[in-house]
Amino acid sequence: MSESWTSFEGVLRYACHVLQPTRILEWGPGDSTLIMAQECPDAHILSIEHQEPYYQAALKRTKMLGNVQIVLAKRACGNANEGMGYIGEPLRAIVRAGAYMPSANVFDLVFVDGRDRQDCLSVAFALVKEEGLVLLHDALRKRYRQAIEMYPHHLIIGDTAVMSRGRALDGFLPDTATA
Ligand SMILES: C[S@@+](CC[C@H](N)C(=O)[O-])C[C@H]1O[C@@H](n2cnc3c(N)ncnc32)[C@H](O)[C@@H]1O
Repeated sequence: MSESWTSFEGVLRYACHVLQPTRILEWGPGDSTLIMAQECPDAHILSIEHQEPYYQAALKRTKMLGNVQIVLAKRACGNANEGMGYIGEPLRAIVRAGAYMPSANVFDLVFVDGRDRQDCLSVAFALVKEEGLVLLHDALRKRYRQAIEMYPHHLIIGDTAVMSRGRALDGFLPDTATA
């Protein structure tokens, strides 16, 4: 595989290649959703959006893809009556599917590229498989540092953080790569 490591796309494609995931969670649908659907046609992709116009746009872009589920889940801050779920939706989706387990180990891959990313990383920690990967776009923002370091294994490639609870990342990149 030949990839550029400066943007999230190369890292995301490579993570799909390495993991061959069957269950993917994303916050912030867009190009990334299509990339994952292309790389992992057999995976189920749950993607969460908090803004109606971008939800509609994501629905339109993915309507031909049977393996992508886009969920509109508004953020709770501001007016609590407006709705909740942006952070908790993956947990609710699992409960609805009757697949809840206390140590969830549900997703092989989580891509965080929406709002409230620190909170998303905390929920991802609870839901990602031991050997799975969590990717964070725009990882160089200082406010994400603490959440990234919550993961025992983490590295930054370009503008993307790669994190894992149990997978050592020392040899994650191929020998030919220059991060
Ligand atoms: C960076 S975007 C998500 C990008 C997506 N993962 C991709 O690869 O294209 C993160 C969030 O910004 C919002 N967003 C998307 N397009 C936008 C735009 N043109 N202007 C403002 N916000 C936007 C959406 O709510 C989206 O969830």
